[in-house]
Amino acid sequence: MLDGKAVAAKVRAEVAVRAAELSVKLGRRPGLAVVQVGEDPASGVYVRNKRKAAAETGIASFAYDLPATTSEAELLALVGRLNRDERVDGILVQLPLPAGLDATRVMDAIDPAKDVDGFHPVNTGLLAQKRPALRPCTPHGVIRLAAEYGIALRGLKATVVGASNIVGRPMALELLLAGATVTVCHTGTRDVRAEVERAEVLVAAVGRAHFIRGEWIKPGAAVFDVGINHDSSGKLVGDVEYRPAAERAGWITPVPGGLGPMTIAMLLSNAIEAAARRERPPEN
Ligand code: GUN
Repeated sequence: MLDGKAVAAKVRAEVAVRAAELSVKLGRRPGLAVVQVGEDPASGVYVRNKRKAAAETGIASFAYDLPATTSEAELLALVGRLNRDERVDGILVQLPLPAGLDATRVMDAIDPAKDVDGFHPVNTGLLAQKRPALRPCTPHGVIRLAAEYGIALRGLKATVVGASNIVGRPMALELLLAGATVTVCHTGTRDVRAEVERAEVLVAAVGRAHFIRGEWIKPGAAVFDVGINHDSSGKLVGDVEYRPAAERAGWITPVPGGLGPMTIAMLLSNAIEAAARRERPPEN
């Protein structure tokens, strides 16, 4: 089992040390603004966890909770203020946004140097060009988890199921950067099972409970399950049928306790990275 909770605790401890060092250099704590618009209950849980994790790590957490009736102009004005706010090193606007707000326009408005989600096209483009700056948290978490367990990705056949801007696409870019041979499955893919059966590394980011059958898993494969779904009885489950998959896999992440905690840990790491880069701008 790939213990995301344990590795996340290790990453957070490293972040706490760097946060303390940076606080001395900057004369203030590194700052992370987390913005939630509306009251999506799942988002509420994620946002609380992110703010709490930041505070526990020695990062100043700036909370903005806006009503679902917020206009796009008001949200863009807040992003503009946070871009200019010297105390704020990282800005995260939780997705999804309520209907009527264009997430693309909002993400594009965030200063790429403060884009701790790594969703801005500048950061996506830098990752695509093998010059990673602020890297999307869940894909970066997969790479870090593999590294912690000594899973050498170079040369492996990797399949990503899902092609979203948040996970699937940046995941493919991260695996490519790590030297894997990458296949991405999406709604146009004719035979997802065949692509999964070949995979020595599988990343499931579909968003459908148990979409990936245990019997599809290649024996010995490393399986990273990004899914957070509720099954018919309301239990939290991933995109992979865990039990039968675990019998075949060499490595597998549980849900919960896999990429969830890793995503938050990598967000904190990005906040520190953003603060450090503002203090000492990078070469790229
Ligand atoms: N919604 C689901 N995952 C994420 C994430 O990683 N960042 C943001 N901002 N919103 C999300």
